[in-house]
Amino acid sequence: MSLFLKLLALTLAQSVASEGTDDWCYSSQAKVLNCSGPEAWPGYCQTGEQSPINIITKQIKLNYSLVDFKFSGYDLKQETFIKNNGYTIKMPLPDSAKISGGGLSGTYKGVESHLHWSDSVDKGSEHTIDGKAFAMEMHVIHMKEKFANLSMALASSDRDAFAVLGFLIEASNQKHEGFQIILDALDKVSYKNGNTSTKPLSLEELLPDVKNRKKYFRYMGSLTTPDCDVKVIWTVFKTTIGLHKDQILQFSKKLFYNEKIQSTPSPSSSPIKDFPIIDNFRPVQELKNRIVYHNGVEGLLPHTWPKFLAPLLTYLLAILLY
Ligand SMILES: *[C@@H]1O[C@H](CO)[C@@H](O)[C@H](O)[C@H]1NC(C)=O
Ligand SMILES: *[C@@H]1O[C@H](CO)[C@@H](O)[C@H](O)[C@H]1NC(C)=O
Ligand SMILES: *[C@@H]1O[C@H](CO)[C@@H](O)[C@H](O)[C@H]1NC(C)=O
Ligand SMILES: *[C@@H]1O[C@H](CO)[C@@H](O)[C@H](O)[C@H]1NC(C)=O
Ligand SMILES: [Zn+2]
Repeated sequence: MSLFLKLLALTLAQSVASEGTDDWCYSSQAKVLNCSGPEAWPGYCQTGEQSPINIITKQIKLNYSLVDFKFSGYDLKQETFIKNNGYTIKMPLPDSAKISGGGLSGTYKGVESHLHWSDSVDKGSEHTIDGKAFAMEMHVIHMKEKFANLSMALASSDRDAFAVLGFLIEASNQKHEGFQIILDALDKVSYKNGNTSTKPLSLEELLPDVKNRKKYFRYMGSLTTPDCDVKVIWTVFKTTIGLHKDQILQFSKKLFYNEKIQSTPSPSSSPIKDFPIIDNFRPVQELKNRIVYHNGVEGLLPHTWPKFLAPLLTYLLAILLY
């Protein structure tokens, strides 16, 4: 293992999803295990402005401060450490994966990326749009550059300590070559705490082209796993990632919530079965008084006006108001 991978492995020890107690679980697990489902999650989970949410496109508000993001280090291609933490598979991101612009207050650096899924393609995402769930959702978590480490970000009182990018994933009839690199490593991380590193892979290879990362939804929310800290500025991109259906379904087949079961030489007891990770998404949370902004996600919106009129009217209003 390279020094780089060792360092990444060390930073994994302090990971976002394993913060707080470990006896929380998703509804799918709570049905069969004695664990705390989402309605009993600890920490901040039952308070304030929580995530994910259902985005109601009739109620979103156009906001011209939502300019393009600037991505840097997303093209760094390297062997990527991945780990099954019993809730998802996660990949630590190097500090050098940075974002700025995008209506953020400054530069944010990479923390971790992970996925949410189901065993069918009509659910699996955390965010929904007009009630529609997507097959999967990829989260790319960043924290403000000023934080020395994750503990400092979690301890801060900044409402926007974290910037999480959410990418919705849909079934497509084409195989996704970037995700295939992750899929090729799944057998090595089937069980909880299993870890390995992938063949060289960059974030860029997993995401939509940069020109398709301009349109997005923006709202203030929380981390979606305990302790659900209310410190996240959320971005959900309009352009989805397409994976072949067979690729999507491998996550729920090859990954398990449990550690590898040691076979015991007692034929009398019924064999304990592996418990696949299915529906590892948190249910949508109340919007409360929040506004969801967007920067022109046409195609999702009713076209009551010709497209060019909205910016023109906003411009004229701005002149009148200043
Ligand atoms: C990776 O797995 C090995 C066992 O295969 C274990 O010793 C090591 O602690 C794990 N590393 C991390 C960061 O989980
Ligand atoms: C479930 O766990 C709680 C706390 O760990 C314990 O008090 C309770 O007895 C357990 N219930 C069952 C049915 O095992
Ligand atoms: C645009 O969004 C910012 C937060 O990102 C907010 O402060 C501002 O009021 C919004 N502008 C409008 C016109 O809604
Ligand atoms: C995080 O950084 C702070 C400040 O540099 C340091 O005191 C603390 O020990 C670090 N925590 C971890 C878990 O590395
Ligand atoms: Zn997530």
